This record gives sequence, C-alpha cells and structure tokens, in this order.
Amino acid sequence: MSNQHNTTTETIASDGDGFALHPDDRKAIEQELEHFEQPQAACIEALKIVQRREGWVPDGAIPVIGDVLGVGPASVEGVATFYSLIFRQPVGRHVILVCDSSSCFLTGFEPLRDALVEHLGIGFGQTTPDDRFTLLPVCCLGACDGGPAMMIDEDTYGPVLPDDIAGLLEDYS
Ligand code: FES
Repeated sequence: MSNQHNTTTETIASDGDGFALHPDDRKAIEQELEHFEQPQAACIEALKIVQRREGWVPDGAIPVIGDVLGVGPASVEGVATFYSLIFRQPVGRHVILVCDSSSCFLTGFEPLRDALVEHLGIGFGQTTPDDRFTLLPVCCLGACDGGPAMMIDEDTYGPVLPDDIAGLLEDYS
C-alpha cells in the first residue's frame, strides 16, 4: 500500500471504517469474478454492486472489494476514481450528471447548468437539502449529437433546454 493511499484513506476514514460487505454482494462479486480471466477486470462490476446497495462507494469498501477480488486496494481505488459513475461520497436519491465536454459546451451547457443551479438551489458537487438530487458535472456521455446532454440516474436526455428542466425533474421523486 502506498503512502498516498494511506493518506487518502486516513483523511476520510470515518466514512469507511467498519464497512461490511453484504453477503449477497460478496456472492455477486465472486460470481462476477468467474466471468473474467483477470480479477482486475471485475473491479468496475464489483464497485457497481456495492454502489447499488449503498448509493455510493465508501472508502472502507475499497480494501474489502480488493480482498474479494484478490487485488490490491490501490487497483480498486484507481478504477473507482477513473469512472465518473462511481460515487465516492454520499449522493441524493437521484444523481444529475451534466456533460461539460466540448460538444455540449458549444451547444448550451452553460445555460443548462445555470438553469439547473437556479431550479435546484445547489451548485455542482452538492445535494439538495431533501436529499432528492445531487448535481455533478461529467465528461462526455456519448450523446454528443443531442447536446447539451445530461443524465438522471440511468436515463440520458438531450438536447435539454432550460425550460425542459422542471418537467424532467418531476419524474424523479
Ligand atoms: Fe456531451 Fe459528448 S460532449 S455528450
């Protein structure tokens, strides 16, 4: 384990201390493991399994996932950090991801962001006080021809105009 990793885990140890992997999740991760030649390749699925239950991936889950997969925590951490759809902090019931990559930037990212910020009363990286929405920027969602694009949970929308926002969000309680 590198010093850098130690520093990271110590900084937010209270989030992850005592993390216990649900037996069903352990089983699901072990099953994923059977699908890959390299255990490392099962990392993303293992992280998704934990996130599905917890809503996010606490620091304490990283070494636990590593133990099940038989890979070092730094490897799991690397995958968790790389994928923007793996959340490393608690999030609201619904996560809004707004694409800020070049194509969407040119087609109206800024007015969309401003309208979301105004409608929700929060900025990027924040969660509404009722825990309903977390607002995050994200790199290209792969929906560039329909920009500006955004995602709510698993649903991709675009192009989204500022006036569309109230109606879109109504479906997520
Ligand atoms: Fe926004 Fe690709 S640049 S979806």
